[in-house]
Amino acid sequence: MDQGNKSGVTEFILHGLSGSQELQLFYFVFFTLFYFSIVLGNLLIVLTVISEPALHTPMYFLLSNLSFIDVCLSTFATPKMIIDFLMEHKTISFEGCMAQIFFLHVFAAGEMMLLVAMAYDRYVAICRPLYYASIMSLRKCTSLVVGSWLIGVFHSVSQLIFTVNLPFCGPNKVDSFFCDLPLVIKLACTNTFTLEVLMLSDSGLIAMSSFVLLLISYTVILVTVRRHSSTGMAKARATLTAHITVVTLFFAPCIFIYGWPFSSLPVDKVLSIFYTVFTPLLNPLIYTLRNKEVISAMKKLKSRQVCF
Ligand SMILES: *[C@@H]1O[C@H](CO)[C@@H](O)[C@H](O)[C@H]1NC(C)=O
Repeated sequence: MDQGNKSGVTEFILHGLSGSQELQLFYFVFFTLFYFSIVLGNLLIVLTVISEPALHTPMYFLLSNLSFIDVCLSTFATPKMIIDFLMEHKTISFEGCMAQIFFLHVFAAGEMMLLVAMAYDRYVAICRPLYYASIMSLRKCTSLVVGSWLIGVFHSVSQLIFTVNLPFCGPNKVDSFFCDLPLVIKLACTNTFTLEVLMLSDSGLIAMSSFVLLLISYTVILVTVRRHSSTGMAKARATLTAHITVVTLFFAPCIFIYGWPFSSLPVDKVLSIFYTVFTPLLNPLIYTLRNKEVISAMKKLKSRQVCF
C-alpha cells in the first residue's frame, strides 16, 4: 500500500445541518424520533413476515428484505448524525468516512435493485397472473435478493477502490452530515475529473437505469390495471400510485446528486436526507402497513405474545 497517499488527512470534518444551537436540539429530537420509528417499523415487518407462514411468498419476502435493507440504509450514517447534533466539533476518521461511502453505496444500490425486483414481481402478478406461480418461484425470489446484494457490493467496491487511493493533502471539510462520495472526491489534491466521470457512469447509471426500468414496469402495470375497472383494480391503482411516489422521492435526489456531481450545491445535503432517512421511513408505511394481510399477521403476532 502506498502510505504517502493520504498523508495529510486522517480525519474529516462534517458540517452537518447548519443552524443555531436551539435548531440543533430540535434536529436531535426530530431525527431521534424518526430513526426509532424507522428501525421499529421495519423490524416489525421483518419479524411479522418471518413468523407468519401465510406470508412466506415472494411478494412478502421481497417486502421484508426491503425493510431489512431500509434498517441498514438508515443506520450507516443517521445515528452518528444524531449524536453529532449535540457536538461542537463533528469529525469522522478517514476509515470511518470510507466505510460510510462503502455502506451507502451497498445499501442504496441494493435497495434500488430490490425495488426493481418488486416491480417485476408485481408486473408478473398483474400482467401474467396465470404464469405467476411458475415464473416467481421461491428460488427465483432468493436469487433476486442475493443478486441485489451482490450488485450492491460490486458497485460499491468498484468505486471505493479509486476513492481510497486518492491523495488527500489538506482540505477535509465535508459539507454534509455524512461522507457522501461527490463531496469527498472534491477534497482530493488532484484532478478528479476522470474519477467524477467514472462515478457518474457507475452510480448515475445504476440509479438512472433502475429508475427507468421502474417507470416502464409501473406504466405497463397501470395500463393493464386501467383496462379492468373493478373495485379491486381501483385499489391496485391507488397502491401503485403510492409506490411511484415513494420511488420518485428516493430516486430523484440520488439522480440529482450523482447525475450532476461536478457542481455540488448546498441543497445536496438536504436532498441526501431523502435517501438516508425519509425513504426508509416511508417504505414500510406505503408498501406494507396498508396491506390487510400484514396487519392481520401483526395482530396474530401480538396476541401470541400476550399468551406467552
Ligand atoms: C429475504 O428473502 C428470502 C427469500 O428469497 C427469505 O428467505 C429471507 O427470509 C428474506 N429476508 C428477510 C430479512 O426478510
